Amino acid sequence: MSRTYRIAAIPGDGIGTEVIAAGIEVLEALAERDGGFRLAFDHFDWGSDYYRRHGVMMPEDGRERIKDHNAIYFGAVGAPDVPDHVTLWGLRLAICQPFDQYANVRPTRILPGITSPLRGVTGPELDWVIVRENSEGEYAGVGGRVHRGLPEEVATDVSVMTRAGVARIMRFAFRLAQSRPRKLLTVVTKSNAQRHAMVMWDEIAAEIAAEFPDVTTDKMLVDAMTMRMTLKPETLDTIVATNLHADILSDLAAALAGSLGIAPTANLNPERRFPSMFEPIHGSAFDITGRGIANPIGSFWTATMMLEHLGEPGAGARLMRAVERVTADPSLHTPDLGGPATTRQVTDAVIQAIRGDNS
Ligand code: IPM
Ligand code: MG
Repeated sequence: MSRTYRIAAIPGDGIGTEVIAAGIEVLEALAERDGGFRLAFDHFDWGSDYYRRHGVMMPEDGRERIKDHNAIYFGAVGAPDVPDHVTLWGLRLAICQPFDQYANVRPTRILPGITSPLRGVTGPELDWVIVRENSEGEYAGVGGRVHRGLPEEVATDVSVMTRAGVARIMRFAFRLAQSRPRKLLTVVTKSNAQRHAMVMWDEIAAEIAAEFPDVTTDKMLVDAMTMRMTLKPETLDTIVATNLHADILSDLAAALAGSLGIAPTANLNPERRFPSMFEPIHGSAFDITGRGIANPIGSFWTATMMLEHLGEPGAGARLMRAVERVTADPSLHTPDLGGPATTRQVTDAVIQAIRGDNS
């Protein structure tokens, strides 16, 4: 009897629809090749078009409709004519936060055939996983505006850190660091300037470190971290940072690894009380939407993370092998990587590599 996983597909906006369609084709080829499991996709047309028609990014009972799925496969949100904070809070954060997907995991590697903008860095020197706190901090949504439009207008965005929230992300990051060969965790902070929450962040990191004596840790101020990532990438392995710091550092990481078009992410509820959500990092990219040239590799890599989470690591590894065979061939690179290939060509090549993989 084959195992069946129910996946909620939310392609969203822009190239999200193109790369999720490509990802679903690849996942279906993978399930067929594997034989041991099935994926049943339910499609949800939530996003900016839905907003234009209904005034909301997703229906009121949206979360109810996806809460029993085994995973969410998400494309991107964002449209030129809808304010970014509306699209973000109306859909992506409206899923991440109530589903308590507090651990955002962002692996970065230089895949075969891809050139890093860093001189002399070819691959093994850059192999990181960024763990982003995904439920509070600078994205807590606390703040407000008063005296709107008047000269005395005041606006605040308050970063909120809780002991429980910091402890759980630290523990998650230490466990992940422990599972990787180097057992090395860098804790990113800004406790020199921010003397309350960031100092608590450091203290909790030190407390949790005592539970993981076999993991080496070090502490980096976020500004200095950008230099270390650029100048000494080989000194880093697992990285934990606040919501906003990790948001910024993960774009830098993606650029250093060759392209934002490749970078995957998993929004995890590690306790599995709610479904976790898997998405490429790149966003909706309206400048290239509809041209058939979006890089689907980010959504494929994301799919490997989803398969691991579902308990199908063998299929995840097979997909990653297929992805790496395809990236190794520069004629199969999309324009973001300087190549001539289309989304269709890359997708077909990955499907072919899956079918031909006999290991
Ligand atoms: C990311 C993105 C989002 C974020 C945007 C779309 C709001 O940049 O996933 O990194 O800041 O969380
Ligand atoms: Mg970002």
